[in-house]
Amino acid sequence: MALKNSANNYGSVAKFLHWTIAALFLASYITVYYRHWFTEEKTPENWIALQLHLSVGISIAAFVVLRIVWRLMNRQPNNEPGPKLAHVAAHVGHYTLYAVMILMPLTGYIGTGVNTEFYLLFDIPKFESTAAYQYLVGELLGLTFEEFEAPVDFFHKTIMGEYAVWILILGHAGAAIYHHTVQKDRTLIKMTTGKDG
Ligand code: HEM
Ligand code: HEM
Repeated sequence: MALKNSANNYGSVAKFLHWTIAALFLASYITVYYRHWFTEEKTPENWIALQLHLSVGISIAAFVVLRIVWRLMNRQPNNEPGPKLAHVAAHVGHYTLYAVMILMPLTGYIGTGVNTEFYLLFDIPKFESTAAYQYLVGELLGLTFEEFEAPVDFFHKTIMGEYAVWILILGHAGAAIYHHTVQKDRTLIKMTTGKDG
């Protein structure tokens, strides 16, 4: 299977990155809602579920950097036939999903007051204990961590986490299924089974 994208299909690297990140998004929701719904505060399970949420989120940040670099080095497969407006909507949707893949880990990290025990293996220091925090938040903005954290958390948990991310991903997956079942074109195939050579 070709590594790089072609006119007809995404290559294996783009597919791997797309589906790995999709699985990690699912894992980020499972971990945080498991914590909310099935664990008691201040128990080891509650802490581990939080740490897995933070670790999965940071993994998404790492994969999205690779994904952006790979995308810049590759052509995109050709669009399926369809109205210009649908192509514009798909492009806007894809760029918005990239914004989500960057902003969710970023706001999660800068708004969290504990270190990340990365998959319980090693510590990644919290933003609050970095020199960047001291300079940007302490000196430039002149805010305490509590004052800084409140709007960042509201964006991460409520605006994005509870609403916008769901709407975007369900709209995106719904469009893929619509293309496959109603339009019967290659949109889903080129990101799954479609291969060249
Ligand atoms: C794409 C990545 C991420 C997604 C989709 C995501 C999504 C969410 C969601 C849905 C919530 C729960 C909102 C609620 O309370 O109802 C949440 C909470 C939280 N997130 Fe993230 N998050 C991501 C990455 C991160 C990262 C990288 C960190 C920190 C390193 C982080 C830290 C937190 C914290 C501390 C909470 C509060 C936990 C709790 O209330 O139990 N998140 N996130
Ligand atoms: C069940 C879930 C999902 C399905 C069925 C799905 C399906 C697809 C399909 C069929 C394409 C190719 C569309 C085209 O080229 O016109 C695509 C591309 C894309 N998907 Fe998804 N996707 C899912 C989840 C996600 C998630 C969770 C994200 C990110 C948060 C995402 C981000 C993207 C992006 C940015 C593209 C554009 C191509 C690229 O730059 O890699 N998808 N997806």
